[in-house]
Amino acid sequence: MAKSKQQVTFGDFQTPLDLARRVAALVKLHESTDIRTIFEPTCGLGSFLQASAEAFGATSEYWGFDLNFEYVETARGALAQMDSISGHVEQKDFYAIDWKTFLSEQPSPLLLIGNPPWITNAAMGAIGGQNLPEKSNFQRHKGFAAKTGKANFDISEWMLIRLLEALQGKQAVVAMLCKTATARKVLRHAWLNGLDAGPSSLHLIDASAEFGVSVDACLFYTHTGFDDTEPTANVFGDLSFDKPKQTFGLFAGELVSDIDAYRELYDLDGLEYRKWRSGVKHDAAKVMEFTRENGVYVNGLGERYELEDDYLFPLLKSSDLANGRLQPSRYVLLTQRRVADPTDEIMTTAPKTWQYLLDHSAQLDKRGSSIYLNRPRFSVFGIGDYSFAPAKVAISGLYKNIRFQALGSDDGKPVMVDDTCYFIPCNSESEAEFFADLLNSETAQRFISALVFKDAKRPVTIDILRRIDLKKLAEYKGKELIAAEYLSSPALETSNQYLMVFEGKERY
Ligand SMILES: C[S@@+](CC[C@H](N)C(=O)[O-])C[C@H]1O[C@@H](n2cnc3c(N)ncnc32)[C@H](O)[C@@H]1O
Repeated sequence: MAKSKQQVTFGDFQTPLDLARRVAALVKLHESTDIRTIFEPTCGLGSFLQASAEAFGATSEYWGFDLNFEYVETARGALAQMDSISGHVEQKDFYAIDWKTFLSEQPSPLLLIGNPPWITNAAMGAIGGQNLPEKSNFQRHKGFAAKTGKANFDISEWMLIRLLEALQGKQAVVAMLCKTATARKVLRHAWLNGLDAGPSSLHLIDASAEFGVSVDACLFYTHTGFDDTEPTANVFGDLSFDKPKQTFGLFAGELVSDIDAYRELYDLDGLEYRKWRSGVKHDAAKVMEFTRENGVYVNGLGERYELEDDYLFPLLKSSDLANGRLQPSRYVLLTQRRVADPTDEIMTTAPKTWQYLLDHSAQLDKRGSSIYLNRPRFSVFGIGDYSFAPAKVAISGLYKNIRFQALGSDDGKPVMVDDTCYFIPCNSESEAEFFADLLNSETAQRFISALVFKDAKRPVTIDILRRIDLKKLAEYKGKELIAAEYLSSPALETSNQYLMVFEGKERY
């Protein structure tokens, strides 16, 4: 069912009572100590308060806060009807509470249970909602990452981190529903920042059945008040502690999705001999991308143009790579070969193309991203000599299937990929096929799977690809001589690692 703007702004997905009961029952079964305080920081209609009161009874004190007054009234009413339950349900704004003070005043062990709002700061910004923490780049993203949206975060991530910080040194159990990616990010933050996040686990839930939304969600279960715990967490397939599916954790400062598999293939985590690149970015698909019909280029607006071929290149997108559709049917207009190149020369070298750009200057000039600021008019991004290499090994960042494709040229022009894909440039198609085979080998796939979180929006990231040591991988397959030949051939860009580097001074 479609959500109202108000529901979206408040990340409002009320938990069905039955699910809240299953969560409360799990906590009751798992915790050996007597919980003294049970608290829901954004309690909504109060299903978690009710379910907890049913499970833990009158030996605990119950607290619930929510911004929505009607919800507070309902939750208060539900608790009031339960015999001998002492409950305090109040209208409060999460962002206005001094959590350290409030939580330190409550008798421990505490149980923080519930379901914080489901919305990202970017989505909130897009609908003009104001239900946000004061500007705080709490993940400490800098410059480009902040500009390109890496600094996007879930409101629940921010809230859970605030709660964990406030709980430091206090004995508490945290059992909250959230996206699996949120739970991971919270734990990563805790582990990297020395917060005491004790034994932790994720218990997968079926969000489409429970909430009617298709996201990967879980019960995030953790503890505070523990000394010396390992930075690892088990993932369970359901609301139980039976047989973990896998264990993820922090290894040398990086998050690894399957610690056991990673340990086995740890030596593949090495040097980046060929620099991985993102595909081309232009933020104007309707204008800069074309199909071709009878020698005429047709853009995404359905307009037909006769254009010089000089600046048009065959293009593959994520879905093409993931589905093995390697014969390009689209073209992309690349106004530059390098990001610093001037574009006004197109006026003389390809006047029809220049006129086309002028005709669409309204769309192109209003591209919002700051990467186009102070750059030549009609600039594109994510290009360099590497984009024009004769061949590439490419992969989509968006798909769960980790399939590398060797790309060559089409009609004498190098095939481009868009900015949802990553690639390494190669000097020939046979070289691209060699590296694609290595990367698609069972060993490489197991190694990559140990790093990749398949439920992430972009399961394959450039940071993961950079870690795959092509030389070591070739050794595993007994192909180190061929790899050495390819990797020592003239670089396609100046920043390439030469063979000399890996022969002479390997650093791990
Ligand atoms: C995902 S719903 C969950 C509600 C309830 N915990 C449950 O599980 O049924 C999120 C709740 O957060 C509340 N909320 C959103 N922003 C809030 C804020 N700034 N302070 C307090 N509560 C807020 C909403 O009103 C909504 O009830």
